Amino acid sequence: MTPFLIIAHRGASAVAPESTAAAILAAARCGAHMVELDVEMTKEGRLIIFHDERLERTTDGKGQVRHTSLMALKRLDAGSWFHPRFRQEKVLLVAEALSLLPSWMGVNLELKRTRQKAALLQRLEKLITRIHFQQRLLFSSFDPGLLKPICKPAIPTALLCRQEAERSLRHAIRIGCAAWHPHWEMATRHRIATAHAAGLRVHVWTVDKPVLAHRFRQWGVDGVFTNNPALLNRSLPQVWG
Ligand code: G3P
Ligand code: MG
Repeated sequence: MTPFLIIAHRGASAVAPESTAAAILAAARCGAHMVELDVEMTKEGRLIIFHDERLERTTDGKGQVRHTSLMALKRLDAGSWFHPRFRQEKVLLVAEALSLLPSWMGVNLELKRTRQKAALLQRLEKLITRIHFQQRLLFSSFDPGLLKPICKPAIPTALLCRQEAERSLRHAIRIGCAAWHPHWEMATRHRIATAHAAGLRVHVWTVDKPVLAHRFRQWGVDGVFTNNPALLNRSLPQVWG
């Protein structure tokens, strides 16, 4: 039986600054099955782990990520905003983030919407052929246009959904996604059953309350994204016992 996946959202982002090495390593330490990381491109088109379009919230930099060079990004402090003890944390290249993962851990790379789809897809293709992560890699996006070109059985993809759930689920099925990733408010029993009947797994985001994780587990969901994988790992055996 496949386990109910605990997926660390932006790393273990409740205990360390999101998208950094500290957050990824904390997720691994507490036994998250998988880590979810957002992918953006630098000014010169390098693939990095970053959530926002702008730098201000999670670094000491200013401006748009896509207008900033890798060299400038690497000079930023990506940890102090969370706590001064994380001041050494840096913005990571996707390849650097992948190299931190223990061999048992999966990774979900979320492709952020971009005006440079062709460039992103070209970079991704290179990444996919270069790395040896295929077995442990799941791509996701809110943009089906980014997933469609990479939807192949060997490269599982998942369509993210924040609204218009029925349409999103139909779309995920039509383009051949391996999974559907609804916001927890969109994840009804009926939709979960429909996804399963079409052969898609369902991973729900973002679930930090053990009681909510328990409900989704009972409804047959295959996994949840959480900012606090340690809490869910600690609480679920008690809740489910
Ligand atoms: O992949 C689930 C979740 O990460 C989607 O939204 O904004 O947190 O990247 P966001
Ligand atoms: Mg994300």
